[in-house]
Amino acid sequence: MPMAMTLFQHVRQRHNADLGALITAIADGAAAIEAKIRTAGLADDILGAAGSENIQGEEQQKLDVFANLTLIDVMKALPSVAAVVSEEDDEPLIFPDRPNAKFIAIFDPLDGSSNIDVNVNVGTIVSIQAVEPGSDVRAAILQPGTAQVAALYVNYGPSTILVYTAGKGVHAFTLSDGEFLLSTGDMLMPEHGTYYSMNEGNIGESLPVYAKAIGRFRDGTLMGRKYSSRYVGSFIADFHRTLLKGGVFLYPPTKKAPNGKLRLLYEANPLSFIAEQAGGAASNGRYRILEITPTEPHMRTPLIIGSQSEVSAIGGMITITP
Ligand code: AHG
Ligand code: MN
Ligand code: MN
Ligand code: MN
Repeated sequence: MPMAMTLFQHVRQRHNADLGALITAIADGAAAIEAKIRTAGLADDILGAAGSENIQGEEQQKLDVFANLTLIDVMKALPSVAAVVSEEDDEPLIFPDRPNAKFIAIFDPLDGSSNIDVNVNVGTIVSIQAVEPGSDVRAAILQPGTAQVAALYVNYGPSTILVYTAGKGVHAFTLSDGEFLLSTGDMLMPEHGTYYSMNEGNIGESLPVYAKAIGRFRDGTLMGRKYSSRYVGSFIADFHRTLLKGGVFLYPPTKKAPNGKLRLLYEANPLSFIAEQAGGAASNGRYRILEITPTEPHMRTPLIIGSQSEVSAIGGMITITP
């Protein structure tokens, strides 16, 4: 049986070799992260807290720090990369003396940190923005999601799957002996699903319209059929299920996170690009996520993402709510 197409071959064929080299380098970093996760709890003691806090006010896990350093190293080794922005670093890291660099990698090195120690899926999320050689890198970091060159996530689960888009469809690759091989090309999100996905512990902490929406998913009056609930607590896992099965994931504003918990640049934007390329949608309740102009690298946003029909049904309820 002929070997499936490699990630580099796919990106080079659909786009270009430079982007192929960048995405493959990120994938190599992800393979190193996966190797650590696979033997967590044994010799190299990768579980537990690192004893430091990030700008988000979160206690960093050792795997957050390892994943972050791994991705920064692979980006530093690529002359085409001008800068990186990471959830785990306060400030962007701008690489000096790279006049011809044209990409900025913006990433969540380890998504779902609260699930690391309990062996539940975690992930890596990367958004790629372009920068004109010699132009202001900081300004290029704050472009809206519509400007993204590419977006990808890696889902470290029973199998390790990398999903990417660069504007010509959504494609999934499965890690096999250190190489990501094409497993599903041109993925499309189902028109609608049977699951809603929200941390219902926040129901009393959020705007009443979200409790109403969840109630109407439950009793079947919003979409004409009753929905089940699924919530992993790792955004990439909840999103990956939504991409394959349809339905909706939402992280609304809460008292604790009045602008939502998820970060625009390295969580909402990349997965919204993928959602839209697969025929889905993503909003902050009122506006299309990809059209939001960022004000700072770690800004947060409310997020409703998934099949068109569910996302617009919730958006419709918000619009008519006084
Ligand atoms: P991260 O681990 O990168 O900080 O992201 C965690 C996020 C996201 O993965 C998930 O959807 C959300 O936190 C879960 O938040 P709650 O535990 O508040 O539900
Ligand atoms: Mn975090
Ligand atoms: Mn995250
Ligand atoms: Mn993270």
